[in-house]
Amino acid sequence: MKLPEQVTRIAVVVALVATLALLVRFVLIPRAYFSTAVHQSATVRREVARPVNFAGASACQDCHAEEWEKKALGYHKGLACETCHGPAAGHAEDPMSVKPFAPRDRKFCPVCHAYDAARPTGFPQINTESHNPLKPCITCHNPHDPVPPETPKECAACHAQIARTVALSAHALLPCATCHTASKEHRIAPRSALPSKPQTREFCGQCHAGGTANPDAPKVELASHGGGYLCWQCHYPHLPEGRP
Ligand code: HEC
Ligand code: HEC
Ligand code: HEC
Ligand code: HEC
Ligand code: HEC
Ligand code: HEC
Ligand code: HEC
Ligand code: HEC
Repeated sequence: MKLPEQVTRIAVVVALVATLALLVRFVLIPRAYFSTAVHQSATVRREVARPVNFAGASACQDCHAEEWEKKALGYHKGLACETCHGPAAGHAEDPMSVKPFAPRDRKFCPVCHAYDAARPTGFPQINTESHNPLKPCITCHNPHDPVPPETPKECAACHAQIARTVALSAHALLPCATCHTASKEHRIAPRSALPSKPQTREFCGQCHAGGTANPDAPKVELASHGGGYLCWQCHYPHLPEGRP
């Protein structure tokens, strides 16, 4: 039986390519080229010749026991000292003349903590623009034991003067929340999550307009009293004064 002509042609091309490949592999490329020993020794020589920059994860322990222990118990226990201080082999050998770098400015910590959707869920992340801007991170967080500081629970912690003023006023019994809605974020990043403030005369009218329930609150004619101006253009809301 005779093979069709195109099959013979393909067979010739395949045979030629195969012969060429075998020729290259076994004749043209030197045998030593396939030996891993040559590469290994060259690589070892190259790497060994490099200067040692890192002292290693436990090198700092002897001289800096305090930082070491603090870090070992805190959130940063998984970080090596040199992750933040940079390669410090030179310092470990000669501490007095070589000073390691200490990342004191605000740019450093966000390398790991700036918000990034790709980070694992639950990894502590912040929005660098609104999270206490302008101050370096280390003013509030100890880098070796970065516990988030307690956030103030009371409005008075930051608005001491207003709180003292209200406490002595006719509005002493009104909680701040009567007139301001403050989100939880306001305590963490105050300027980027400002609370609400009353907007209308009707707001004060809830208690002060004639016919409203609150019996302790003196009443005014809401439509005409004060000529239609906002109430706090005449009465400071934190220390309201009525009849002289
Ligand atoms: C042989 C002891 C020794 C070893 C090991 C050592 N240090 Fe120090 N380190 C010192 C001394 C001493 C000082 C204080 C120098 C001074 O006050 O002038 C110091 C200072 C520092 C400072 C402060 C620099 C500054 O700007 O104030 C840092 C940061 C530091 N070491 C980090 C490290 C790290 C990280 C390691 C481990 C890789 C390490 N050290 C290993 C002895 C050592
Ligand atoms: C998350 C980053 C980070 C890690 C990890 C870290 N440090 Fe620091 N370290 C800092 C920063 C930032 C400062 C500067 C603190 C300051 O000026 O208040 C600092 C300061 C220091 C100082 C100077 C003394 C001081 O408190 O100001 C020493 C010494 C030191 N670190 C040693 C170490 C050692 C040892 C380790 C490992 C056990 C380590 N650090 C791990 C960020 C780090
Ligand atoms: C190399 C990455 C890295 C760097 C740089 C780094 N951190 Fe961290 N940080 C971590 C890891 C990892 C944790 C632990 C996360 C966990 O427990 O889930 C952590 C935890 C924290 C926490 C605890 C948050 C919480 O409530 O869970 C704070 C605060 C913090 N770091 C502040 C800082 C500050 C300030 C700096 C700069 C001095 C800094 N970090 C630099 C990796 C880093
Ligand atoms: C003015 C003080 C202050 C400064 C400056 C500050 N923080 Fe914080 N940080 C806080 C407080 C307070 C909290 C706790 C907030 C809370 O209760 O959720 C916190 C929480 C955190 C957390 C934990 C967030 C979480 O979801 O668990 C991380 C991470 C953090 N800060 C990193 C940083 C980094 C990085 C910087 C610098 C770019 C920085 N902080 C600057 C006060 C500060
Ligand atoms: C961590 C400190 C802090 C705490 C706690 C805090 N505030 Fe503030 N608050 C601020 C700062 C900072 C501003 C901005 C002041 C400025 O811009 O001059 C502010 C602004 C305000 C404003 C003005 C908003 C505007 O538009 O002008 C109101 C109202 C207010 N806070 C109410 C409250 C109330 C109510 C609470 C308690 C639930 C509270 N704050 C707790 C720090 C705080
Ligand atoms: C009776 C309602 C009322 C109560 C209660 C009240 N506020 Fe206000 N507050 C106002 C009004 C109205 C303004 C807006 C004043 C303006 O725009 O001039 C204001 C403004 C503010 C401001 C902006 C700065 C300023 O002085 O104008 C802060 C901060 C604030 N209040 C905090 C507080 C805190 C903290 C408390 C609780 C201790 C509190 N307020 C209780 C009505 C109230
Ligand atoms: C939740 C009810 C309530 C709201 C809202 C309220 N007040 Fe009052 N206010 C009172 C009460 C109660 C008194 C009287 C307390 C007393 O005399 O013991 C009072 C007293 C006053 C007085 C008279 C003080 C005096 O010395 O006679 C003025 C003026 C006043 N409020 C203005 C305002 C203004 C302006 C607002 C809006 C920003 C406002 N109030 C919102 C309850 C309220
Ligand atoms: C143009 C300034 C002005 C404006 C605006 C104004 N008031 Fe007055 N308010 C006064 C003066 C002056 C008094 C004291 C004399 C009087 O009773 O008319 C007073 C008194 C009061 C009293 C005490 C009444 C009493 O019987 O003791 C209350 C309550 C009061 N105002 C609430 C309000 C409320 C609520 C608003 C907004 C709806 C408001 N005021 C707007 C000027 C003003």
